[in-house]
Amino acid sequence: MEKHLNFEALKRPPMPSPSAVPTPTAPRRNLVAALCATVIGLIIKLVPLTAGLAVFFDPLLRRKGSSAGTKPFIRVASLNAIPEDGTPVQFPVVADLTDAWNREPSQPIGAVYLRRVGGKVECFNAICPHAGCFVAYAAGRQVFQCPCHTSSFELTGERILPSPSPRDLDKLAVDEEKLKSGEVWVQFVNYYPGKEHREEKPT
Ligand code: FES
Repeated sequence: MEKHLNFEALKRPPMPSPSAVPTPTAPRRNLVAALCATVIGLIIKLVPLTAGLAVFFDPLLRRKGSSAGTKPFIRVASLNAIPEDGTPVQFPVVADLTDAWNREPSQPIGAVYLRRVGGKVECFNAICPHAGCFVAYAAGRQVFQCPCHTSSFELTGERILPSPSPRDLDKLAVDEEKLKSGEVWVQFVNYYPGKEHREEKPT
């Protein structure tokens, strides 16, 4: 029997199997894969960036947390350096200055008057509350006197009226426990001048 070869069938390309036929969901899968790759890439880049930013801002955050507490006491003088008769003496206040990233040791940050009253010590910021000049102790009149606009203050820190100063001298806290061991430690604060009520300056 004579066999006939089907040349038309041989020329035709083979029919693809059903599984090889592209379906409409394939482009969607590719898009999802691309999105996943982008998201993972972003995460990989963001992790070290976030860690770097956390390290950079950490001192600022710690400083913010610590400023919520009270100011520390600073050693200003030995008790022996203050006359027992109640005469006020001016002392510089020296402290370590720190900002978020730097520390400068032993910097002058102001001055105070210390005065013995009975067994205690009174402390006043030496800055005049009028406009910020340093007051001097006028031994002859036994008052604090400002050289700038003639504000005067009693030894208790009270204004002598009339006065350009809007308030009394700024009284500061003294650590009474340290006094027992012969040292004067003061909670040093600078206040804005020109205001009737004390408003603490940031340090
Ligand atoms: Fe002291 Fe003006 S600054 S009186």
